[in-house]
Amino acid sequence: MNKQLAMILVGGILGMGVLTAANAAGQKPEEVVEYRKSVYTIIGWNFKPIGAMVKGEVPFDAAAVARHAQYVEMMSKAAPEGFSKGSGPDVVKDTEAKPEIWTKWSEFQTKMTNFQQEATKLAEVAKSGKEADIKAQFGKTAETCKACHKEFRKD
Ligand code: HEC
Repeated sequence: MNKQLAMILVGGILGMGVLTAANAAGQKPEEVVEYRKSVYTIIGWNFKPIGAMVKGEVPFDAAAVARHAQYVEMMSKAAPEGFSKGSGPDVVKDTEAKPEIWTKWSEFQTKMTNFQQEATKLAEVAKSGKEADIKAQFGKTAETCKACHKEFRKD
């Protein structure tokens, strides 16, 4: 083995050691938690006003619904990255994520996929501006939030 190759290999092994405290992309657990909370804050920020409109608490505004629904859809796709391994409550204190996320990973994934699918439909329906359809699809999407929170988020 030549000297240069040996150095690269050793460097790689040392590098891996450093990375055990971070995820594959190099973020620290605290950063992952901050990211996922931010993503959900944006989701909540955009989901709430749609809810207020479908409940008749504020006047219906089709353009606002379409805009908010687009952000919810986008953030639903950004959410999975916020759950990399090693960012659970055993590592980071300030989180409401339950350890079951990582022990029942495939169930969690299913809940995430359901949410993404309903959020995508909501964004589609929102473009139509049809209030009744939006109302129905808002309900379906809200169910996917609840389903995941019930099982995987501390109250
Ligand atoms: C696949 C699971 C899952 C789905 C689906 C989901 N959430 Fe969450 N949500 C979580 C988890 C886990 C947390 C806790 C994150 C933490 O504290 O690290 C959370 C936290 C939040 C928070 C608090 C963020 C903060 O600042 O701590 C809000 C608001 C929220 N979710 C809104 C929603 C809404 C609205 C929907 C649906 C439109 C939704 N969530 C769908 C799992 C989910």
